[in-house]
This record gives sequence, C-alpha cells and structure tokens, in this order.
Amino acid sequence: MEKFKKVYPFTTENIAGYMHNLDLTGKKVITVTASGDHALNAILRGSTDITCFDVNPHSKDYSRDKIDAILSLSYEDFIRYLLLDNHLKSKYDLEFKYYNPDSKKRCNLYLSREEFYRLKSLLASVSIRFIDANITDLKLKDHFDYMFLSNISDYLSLLYQSEELERYQKLLMQFLEYIDYIYFAYLYDVEGDEKRSRIDQSSEVDKVFKSYKKIEFPTALEGKRTKDAVLILKRSDYFGK
Ligand SMILES: C[S@@+](CC[C@H](N)C(=O)[O-])C[C@H]1O[C@@H](n2cnc3c(N)ncnc32)[C@H](O)[C@@H]1O
Repeated sequence: MEKFKKVYPFTTENIAGYMHNLDLTGKKVITVTASGDHALNAILRGSTDITCFDVNPHSKDYSRDKIDAILSLSYEDFIRYLLLDNHLKSKYDLEFKYYNPDSKKRCNLYLSREEFYRLKSLLASVSIRFIDANITDLKLKDHFDYMFLSNISDYLSLLYQSEELERYQKLLMQFLEYIDYIYFAYLYDVEGDEKRSRIDQSSEVDKVFKSYKKIEFPTALEGKRTKDAVLILKRSDYFGK
C-alpha cells in the first residue's frame, strides 16, 4: 500500500495505557508489526508466542533490527542509538510524524531501564513469527488469545470503497472464530470534536458492532490532556464459550 511505505520507528499510540494491566502470561498473540512495539510490550506482559503481520515488509526488517539492538546494547546506548539519534534512518525510510522521545518512553512499557533489561532476558525464550500481509489477506487456522490491530481502522477507506465499517466488521467476525479478544480500533483524542472517520463516531460503531468494550486512558498526543481509547471485541459475546 502506497500510504504505508514508511516504517514507524516507535509506536504513535499509548500502548502502555491499554497493556499495563493486561496479563498475557501463556497467551498467544497476533498483532500488527508496525514498529515492533506492540509485540515488545506484549512480551513484557507475559506472552511468549507472537505472530506479527504487516502490509509493509520493511516493518518486519526494522523490528528484527530493533530486537537485535535490544539484545546487544545497554539501556543507555539503546536510548541514544534508536530513540534519540535514530541511527536506523540511514537504512529505512522512517515516519517521524508525532515523534517525541519523552512520549515514546511514557507510551511503551519497555523504555524504562528496569523493564528494558527484563525484556532483554525474556526475548531469549520468545517465539516471534512475521508475516508480510494485508489484513484482508490474513488466513487464520490456529487459535489466538489476543489480536492487536493498532489504528488500521483509521484507514478502512484504503481497503474498501464502500460500506467500509460493515465490511471490516465482517472480516473481524471471521477472525473472531479463532481469536478470544480483538483490539479492533485505537482511537486518538476521544473527547475531541474532530471525527476523522466512522470509527471515531460511537453511534456508527454501535450500529455496526452488536457488542464491544471501550477502554479509555491518557492520550499519546503530546501536550494534550485528553484521552485515547481502544475498542475490543470478545469472542464469547458472539460465539459463546
Ligand atoms: C496503522 S499504522 C500507524 C502507526 C501505529 N499507530 C503505531 O503505533 O505504530 C501501523 C502499521 O500498520 C500497517 N498497516 C496499515 N494498514 C494495514 C493493513 N490493511 N494490513 C496490514 N498492515 C497494515 C502499516 O504498514 C504500519 O506499519
């Protein structure tokens, strides 16, 4: 997809906001690859079995390089090399929209000194599989406990020419046969007036999705006091146990 040629060096979301109290011990996770941050935070929350997918194949290479950097560098060198100096910008076309190192520390569980070293040791016993695929081409055959879809929901008009929310819902219902919880939308600034697409309008989401949960937490957006949110589908609400 032309829109996603660049790689996000770090998440633009407040992943810590929705993962900090999630227990992923022994849970199988499937997530968008993006900057690798969704997977890295999930590992810190206990998951040892992670599948990452992304339409941009460079996100996989960047994530592998980020993991190598975590494994080989001290905390101080990692912060300088990747977060502050962005050394990998000579190798990858990086997206620096919303880039603020302090907010990256606040929004990621692994960017404190203590948690960075815990992640370093956990990485030795974790399996991470990468798939180059558009979400619409994902073929699931196995059960997963959690799926994290970042804010793919902001770009549904790139996937579908009409009825994009309805068609996204249909796709998610197919996934839900295999997955217990799907974090199907990340919403920025839920208290703001700007509604960028139908996913930002709860009346529209209510119309299309029979049942879902919304969790709110402090925004990732720098200098704002508002909230972001994630929307979550639960398999048992649709298919029983
Ligand atoms: C939605 S973007 C935005 C950044 C994101 N908020 C974060 O925190 O990283 C994240 C990633 O999703 C990928 N992506 C977007 N639409 C996709 C799709 N339809 N299928 C698979 N990957 C997609 C992009 O290539 C990008 O790497």
